[in-house]
Amino acid sequence: MFFASDNTSAAAPSVMSAVLAANEGYARGYGADPIMARVTAELRAMFEAPDAVVHLVATGTAANALALATFIQPWQAVFCHRHAHIAEDECGAPEFFTNGAKLALVDGAHGKMTPEALTQALGSTGESGVHGVQRGILSLTNVTEAGTVYTPAEIAALTALAKERGLPCHLDGARFANALVATGATPAQMTWQAGIDAVSFGGTKNGCLGVEAVVIFDPAKDWELQLRRKRGGHLFSKNRFLAAQMEGYLQDGAWLHLAEHANAMATRLATGLAAIPDATQRHPVQANMMFPEWPEGTHERLEAAGAVYYRFPAPAGREGARLVTSWSTTEADVDAFLAAFAT
Ligand SMILES: Cc1ncc(COP(=O)(O)O)c(C=O)c1O
Repeated sequence: MFFASDNTSAAAPSVMSAVLAANEGYARGYGADPIMARVTAELRAMFEAPDAVVHLVATGTAANALALATFIQPWQAVFCHRHAHIAEDECGAPEFFTNGAKLALVDGAHGKMTPEALTQALGSTGESGVHGVQRGILSLTNVTEAGTVYTPAEIAALTALAKERGLPCHLDGARFANALVATGATPAQMTWQAGIDAVSFGGTKNGCLGVEAVVIFDPAKDWELQLRRKRGGHLFSKNRFLAAQMEGYLQDGAWLHLAEHANAMATRLATGLAAIPDATQRHPVQANMMFPEWPEGTHERLEAAGAVYYRFPAPAGREGARLVTSWSTTEADVDAFLAAFAT
């Protein structure tokens, strides 16, 4: 009954066997290893982008901050949702790595910015000449921080507004696989075909030990991203072990199967919760994360039964939770959690 986060799960078997297989003999360091060459080719094929820039880092924060920094100047703004991970959970890393770019917060229900709110934010930034911060980049998150999912059409509608202003667009895909299987889109449809220029392609939450790929569709950005990654301390000497994780993750579509399972467990959990009197969901459940609320006193019962999750603020008389399922969540975990409501 461990629903605290998808990063509380172990690493997936295909990832671990790839790492063990990589632990033989010698390989050049700093990304010049043969596994990295294969991973680059595989990610390019997967995104249908033969010239894409592909580099690995170990955290989602690094992927986001380095990708953003590669596109903007310190006097520019990153347009992101008010509750974006880059705004609330990265300790100012995007501002730090961009040398001080400002985050311009955009509203929208259920973790998704609306075209109207983005239009408003774009219109009110960069209008006071040298005195004001200039428009820089749009950053979207999919799966969103509220557990909802943007379709490629919704992404395209938002990126079109940014493109009208000549801005590039970034996608925080810490849970990219979960968003993809939720929509049935291809990686290309979710990204460059919908106006995305750079993706933080997550691996860690969905079964890796610790690896994320920064994928940028403009090859001219390659050298700058490489320099920024080194300077930011994220060029791994034994890169082969990052590459091996990614290779094991992609092998035979493992990454999609793992996400399908995580999402299916979330559906099972949400369906069960819907039958529990007075339990409600704050946001639609569309991938592998949900934010239910229930009457006061319930947390103690669930936790006494062994459930682990984060509490979330809720209105008086109610208690909120964040529950995340993963590739390793079992039906038995979900059913035991639901049964604990009756204890
Ligand atoms: C939406 C989102 N982006 C990025 C990250 C990456 O974070 P970390 O730096 O902890 O790997 C997370 C992790 O919680 C996340 O939820």
